[in-house]
Amino acid sequence: MHDFNFKNNELYCESVKVGAVAKKVGTPFYLYSHKTLVEHFQKIRDAFAPVNPLVCFAMKSNGNAAILKTLIDQGAGIDIVSGGELKKAIRVGANPKTICFASAGKTQEEIALAVKKGILLFNVESKEELNAINTIAKKLRKVVQVALRINPDVDAATHKSITTGTLKNKFGIDLKTAHEILKNAKKYPSLEINGLHVHLGSQITSVKPYVFALKKIIQFLEILCADSICLRYLDIGGGFGISYEKKAITSKQFAKALLPLLKMTGLKIILEPGRFIAGPSGIFVTKVLYNKNNGVKKFVIVDGGMNDFARPSLYNAYHEIIPTKKTAAKKIKVDVVGPICESGDFFAKDRPLSTVKKNALLAIMRAGAYGSTMASNYNIRPKVAEVMVKGNKFEIIKSRETFNDLIRGEKIPRFLK
Ligand code: LLP
Repeated sequence: MHDFNFKNNELYCESVKVGAVAKKVGTPFYLYSHKTLVEHFQKIRDAFAPVNPLVCFAMKSNGNAAILKTLIDQGAGIDIVSGGELKKAIRVGANPKTICFASAGKTQEEIALAVKKGILLFNVESKEELNAINTIAKKLRKVVQVALRINPDVDAATHKSITTGTLKNKFGIDLKTAHEILKNAKKYPSLEINGLHVHLGSQITSVKPYVFALKKIIQFLEILCADSICLRYLDIGGGFGISYEKKAITSKQFAKALLPLLKMTGLKIILEPGRFIAGPSGIFVTKVLYNKNNGVKKFVIVDGGMNDFARPSLYNAYHEIIPTKKTAAKKIKVDVVGPICESGDFFAKDRPLSTVKKNALLAIMRAGAYGSTMASNYNIRPKVAEVMVKGNKFEIIKSRETFNDLIRGEKIPRFLK
């Protein structure tokens, strides 16, 4: 469910005509519905309410300040993965005590910053990282809370680039090593190792991998208990899938399967959803530049490219594409492609689409997660504008980059002058 709907054959975001935004800001652009965003946060929070979780929004899915502020105002914590995300989350108003920091490669500077800011939890991925955090915390005379990111060796049955919970992946610590670390926790006097973290992957559309992993974790907690090791937090990561092509399962269905297991742990539960909240809340709007038929294939060439929205090129991901004006035109099979100099630059292949003319607008749906955050300046293209709608109002929440933004920091060395 989302708030991008047709009224009188025109696509609206809440009460704002998508075409009206295009007139104001030009194309391409990302457009977000405030209402959809809030509702998806609430869906997760309410579904898991029986364990009163801390819901930390994974800002890697969308780090726009207005998106973050909307969610923080709703009571969201933030899941971060870099020093940049930490600084931004705090700048926007996140309480450090609601911030979890996951990354297999935290730098000394990032660790020191997070220790100084007093974040809730470091989700730690190796023994060497534990040592590094311990040393830095000691230097700063702080004791910090740490959760061990467990690699439960569970296949999340999703795209191979976004599976993270098997031992073939770089993430987390195997259970044997984790046990050993917890038994020797005294070796890290500046750390309170009091949680477990697990993140199986992204766009997971079945409860099975979660159930399997949680059962493993519960067994592990029992082993720890026998060694008198008591923990406080269980962070089950993110990964809840959404309906890109096939109907995904709901937050209620996820919760129904997971709640009994989460309750059994008796621990404070943390969730880190990104896509589930941001994905359906945003669309990518692009303008048709040309139509072309080479005798074998028909192409609709648009002004947005893989640098603006990379998911189709990167993961062959399916995103519904709809013209913002409904027409009676018949559907023909086309490739929707961008202006970038690669054949991988596409939004859809062999997709039945109503015939669209030059200057028509296309909405690429469910583009709110891993859209703007993965954009690049490839082909020296400015990053696009981002706009948020609330009711009948809309505002730019990120300006389109200018040529000056694109060349900032570049210089010709003296030896070339
Ligand atoms: N927690 C951790 C530790 C993560 O690594 C991630 C995502 C999340 C939470 C949030 O996962 P979500 O709820 O959004 O599935 N660029 C890819 C997705 C990469 C996901 C990376 N980690 C895509 O566009 O599909």
